[in-house]
Amino acid sequence: MSKYKIAWLPGDGVGVEVLEASKIVLDKINLDAEYIHGDIGWEFWCKEGDAFPERTIDLLKNVNAAMFGAITSKPVKAANTELVPELQNKGLIYRSPIVRMRQLFNLYICLRPCKAYEGNPLNYYGRNDIDLVVFRENTEGMYSGVEFNPVPEGLAEFLKANSKPFAAFKDVPLDQYAISCKINTRKGSEKIIRAAFEFAQKFNRKKVTVVHKANVVRATDGLFLETAKEVKKDFPDIQMDDANIDAITMWLLKNPKNYDVLVAPNLFGDIISDLCAQMVGGLGFGCSGNIGEKLAVFEPTHGSAPKYAGQYKVNPIATILSAKMMLDWLGETEMGNKVEKATADVIKEGKFRTYDMGGSNTTLEVAKAIADKI
Ligand code: IPM
Ligand code: MG
Repeated sequence: MSKYKIAWLPGDGVGVEVLEASKIVLDKINLDAEYIHGDIGWEFWCKEGDAFPERTIDLLKNVNAAMFGAITSKPVKAANTELVPELQNKGLIYRSPIVRMRQLFNLYICLRPCKAYEGNPLNYYGRNDIDLVVFRENTEGMYSGVEFNPVPEGLAEFLKANSKPFAAFKDVPLDQYAISCKINTRKGSEKIIRAAFEFAQKFNRKKVTVVHKANVVRATDGLFLETAKEVKKDFPDIQMDDANIDAITMWLLKNPKNYDVLVAPNLFGDIISDLCAQMVGGLGFGCSGNIGEKLAVFEPTHGSAPKYAGQYKVNPIATILSAKMMLDWLGETEMGNKVEKATADVIKEGKFRTYDMGGSNTTLEVAKAIADKI
């Protein structure tokens, strides 16, 4: 029997290709694992009305970790016309499977390291000293999924009676506005902030920066910031500062060296993780882990890129670095280090590059070059 069971969820578009690439590297490193395929993605929405079928949920309950490629999101206003006839008009609402997966398995940490590798021509202004780590809260906030469009009568009545700013909307018909609830719990905030501080302590990082908009979004972001100040008391050796989401997008670009570990509520973490990824080469370098107590799911942050699907041209490095994160999470840090070193060497040598890095190699050629260094 293998030491590990890994769910293998390629999903859609280039997800399939980059996962294939990461497998070349995992095979070379000889991870003692059984890889079990799981159905997920747009295809299953069209065929079954569920992009994240029950059988895949069951699979995830029985594995140590998962590798996930990407999923094509349903366009915001599209009708259910892609569904098979018997599933049409059943009022099925498409929800992003990855968001559902994060919530269902309480994968409350979204960990996104953004490190510049030497020799990467895409490093922001040629800097190879950027080394940021984003901790994004992964289950709550703007992604809570509590949304209304149209707004139910009872809710509108409640808001009229209980909130002053709402008076401005009081004469707007119920079907002429929509409500998305940003829900943050103290426990959820504490868990992600603590995870960021623990990481900082373990890896000798100096500072945790709390990202928020507490000057405007007082209830939820206020709670997040207040919780951070409490958690900080348990980590006297780690500095903490905080910044508004708008300001930090400027400051990060201006002075990336002023930052180290960043922790943010869900949507702000989503935003800054793309920004930080861009500083170290773009989404081809954006690796990530969705981490809970029992399960962790590793994925590149770039999405399914339908226009490139089938061409084997996208950069596999984000996925290979995500596989490295999985090795670390499994406790196979020696293997993880080897994969990172091999990746860094291939980047530095510059002989094998996908189109985004100015080269003409395929996804699999870059993966093989990395595997050859192991
Ligand atoms: C990410 C992505 C997802 C998100 C999408 C695909 C639902 O942007 O992982 O950052 O918004 O979380
Ligand atoms: Mg995103």
